[in-house]
Amino acid sequence: MTYPNPFTQFQEWLKKAEDLGIPYPNAMTVSTLDENGWPDSRILLLKECDEDGFVFFTNKQSVKGHQLNNCPRAALVFYWKELGLQVRVQGTVEDTSDDESDAYFATRPRLSQIGAWASLQSSPLNDRPFLEKRVEEFEARFHGKPVARPPYWGGYRLIPHKIEFWTEQPFRLHDRLIYKLEEGEWGVTRVYP
Ligand SMILES: Cc1cc2nc3c(=O)[nH]c(=O)nc-3n(C[C@H](O)[C@H](O)[C@H](O)COP(=O)(O)O)c2cc1C
Repeated sequence: MTYPNPFTQFQEWLKKAEDLGIPYPNAMTVSTLDENGWPDSRILLLKECDEDGFVFFTNKQSVKGHQLNNCPRAALVFYWKELGLQVRVQGTVEDTSDDESDAYFATRPRLSQIGAWASLQSSPLNDRPFLEKRVEEFEARFHGKPVARPPYWGGYRLIPHKIEFWTEQPFRLHDRLIYKLEEGEWGVTRVYP
């Protein structure tokens, strides 16, 4: 069945992956561009997806944070091998609101919240004990208190203009449907595998 709306299709596939009980069904490769135009990719977890876009959370002073600040464009890839399904997404990236970042931060386990303060994500770390010492320092700082969200930690929302759904088929005759946003409407085209 071809849905007129790619978000309905995406949510259906993500739910199928979640129902399988596989680890990290929401894991996705996120590609950004560095200041020399080199693509850079890493795995992140998708935390929300609706018609507004695809949301993930991270340290905004990390390498990806600087890259997104310089060039707010990204691509995502999901692959669920047990289902033979792949989704590719391309779009522009915006910061989530402070309220949204606060709300998600508040749901994280306390030690992950402390970790967000302790980790200077993507910066050089000479030795592990230094990280452990920072964890202890922030545990002491927030002892008996809720852990506030670090000002440099929050969410990004990728607002897609292109989403491809790939379904594995026998003899590599896979099925590919590409949704593109044109003048505010999603159009869909089937392409050769
Ligand atoms: C399964 C998995 C899930 C991950 N989820 C996140 C995430 O949601 N946010 C995050 O900042 N890093 C996450 N990471 C770590 C990133 O892959 C990456 O190492 C980190 O964000 C630093 O990337 P950067 O140096 O390009 O900024 C995850 C890694 C794996 C393997």
